Amino acid sequence: MSPTALQLRRSHPLDPVTAEEITEVRRVADAAGLVAESTRFVYVGLQEPAKDDVLRHVDSDAVGRRFRVLLLDVATQVSQDVVVDLETGAVVSEVELDTATTGQLPVLDEEFELVEQLLATDERWLAALDARGLDIKNVRVAPLSAGVYADEYPDEAGRRVLRGLAFVQEHEHDAAWAHPIDGLVAYVDTLNRSVDQVIDAGPVPVPAGSGNYDDPRVRGPLRTTQKPIEISQPDGPSLELDANLLTWENWTVRVGFDAREGLVLHQIGFAGRPIVHRASIAEMVVPYADPAPVRSWQNYFDTGEYLVGRYANALELGCDCLGEIVYLDVVLADEHGRPRTLPNAVCIHEEDAGILWKHSDLWSGSTQTRRQRRLVISFFTTVGNYDYGFYWYLYLDGTFAFEAKATGVPFTSAHPGGDYPYASQVAPGLGAPLHQHLFSARLDMTVDGTANRVEEVDVVRVPIGPDNRRGNAWTTRRTVLATESAAQRDAAPDRNRVWHVVNPGKPNAMGEPVGFALVPEGLPTLLADPESSIARRAAFATRHLWVTRYDPAERYSAGDFVNQHAGGAGLPAYAAADRDLDGRDIVLWHTFGLTHVPRPEDWPIMPVDRAGFTLRPVGFFDRNPTLDVPGSDSGHCSPEAHHG
Ligand code: CU
Repeated sequence: MSPTALQLRRSHPLDPVTAEEITEVRRVADAAGLVAESTRFVYVGLQEPAKDDVLRHVDSDAVGRRFRVLLLDVATQVSQDVVVDLETGAVVSEVELDTATTGQLPVLDEEFELVEQLLATDERWLAALDARGLDIKNVRVAPLSAGVYADEYPDEAGRRVLRGLAFVQEHEHDAAWAHPIDGLVAYVDTLNRSVDQVIDAGPVPVPAGSGNYDDPRVRGPLRTTQKPIEISQPDGPSLELDANLLTWENWTVRVGFDAREGLVLHQIGFAGRPIVHRASIAEMVVPYADPAPVRSWQNYFDTGEYLVGRYANALELGCDCLGEIVYLDVVLADEHGRPRTLPNAVCIHEEDAGILWKHSDLWSGSTQTRRQRRLVISFFTTVGNYDYGFYWYLYLDGTFAFEAKATGVPFTSAHPGGDYPYASQVAPGLGAPLHQHLFSARLDMTVDGTANRVEEVDVVRVPIGPDNRRGNAWTTRRTVLATESAAQRDAAPDRNRVWHVVNPGKPNAMGEPVGFALVPEGLPTLLADPESSIARRAAFATRHLWVTRYDPAERYSAGDFVNQHAGGAGLPAYAAADRDLDGRDIVLWHTFGLTHVPRPEDWPIMPVDRAGFTLRPVGFFDRNPTLDVPGSDSGHCSPEAHHG
């Protein structure tokens, strides 16, 4: 297919990536001499046009399409950051990375198995397993991103290193996470195909209890008490989907999907008014708290190092989502640059969300109830032992929210018994090291336009005195976060702290600037020591809030290349310019997440735990925007029946 034909098929710059486009990107890269037998396509993603270009776009405009392509030649070890333009059919930019300073491209799928393969023939590894009486054919090795410990391992700079922790898999269907082989770790160079080190602190007993949560001998007989719950929407869901443009109850949003970030929502607006130009979870990291030498390096950036989007699950009806579901397939590139379709990767559905508003009036006798609904746009991804759901919610009243759902299997260790402070004993002899799951939302704001301002709003007690004789007074205090250095902030739940994003040029009926508030959950940020490697590498996670001036190149909270990057990239680098933010085009970056002290109830599989944030209108509307929501007409709950 010619580039012209491709271009004609696109109607909007943010349309989803097609299989034809991926094929064409590969062809252009190949024609430019960038693709050898040993070339791996680590990432292929739409290079979105800058905000102004998207905002200026009208339907009749031609739509150019550019793709960012990260290439790794596993033979020559050359890493490249390439941009392909499909309009001209040309490579428009080609940068070779100096991986000793830039860090490595993300971990490849094919490297997952490689670690186990390389160790299977290593004398030191075999000796360590032998000393434990373990059979190599039952040993699985988790391929774990290495982090950066340059003082200890200066020769790792510029080489692709993964570290391996091992588990016993007793049979083909056994959950190996139940049987960690502790006191043992291996460092593997995946491109030179060599084992750098095998560190053996001596055998400790391998926990033997089964983790097979679906084995009748483990779970017992299935309960028979549950009667069916069926969601019935006889006329279908109240949404419309035109390509990726979703319309629902005053809301419009363009649904996108990226191999790195997963779901990307664009041009989120309400009743034709823009609110967020682009929303995504731009990074996430799982730092572990156990200082035991064999695992004190454990920190996985599931987004920047592993690319959560490409591990998206194909969802099944009635399983992940309930009700009338609209699914979107997602097209990604495989590691050979060929299109790969993930069927039903994105789930869109509508849920009843309890009471929206209600009042039984003392004097008028009026009794009115309205029900809340939300639109859910979600996907699930599996990265190693954990599974994460990414759920975006739109509500009738203009509330917009995100929730991460963490489930799957906690990472395990052998528990030494007693009150070891850095791991919970989740089953006899089985440990689960304490850890955090820290997410970074990137919210490119456009509250009624691009000229926005961020104000921190606290509640404050007013001291007792002549104007406050009974001492009951308290009020709100607003502080404009006017520069990037002033806009690195922490939540303060005891002060009800929220961050308002307002448009100073757009007053509401009360003369106040229209705005949306970012409401944080205010749970802990990164707990690791500020001097640690992980604090440098995940600097974004040391604050709940960062605000930066919009720059299309500033996309990732921990920088473009996270794998084996020593730190300082991403937010600290973006904010170093200390740009003016007041009345400017701004981006909010919000850290939120779980601080996970595993419980026995999290074993052998963890019930979903949640973390997220809310964006709520504050003076964006002149009154409750849901007065026009009709009462429920379902059976005995008919509003007419309750009229006084
Ligand atoms: Cu956890």
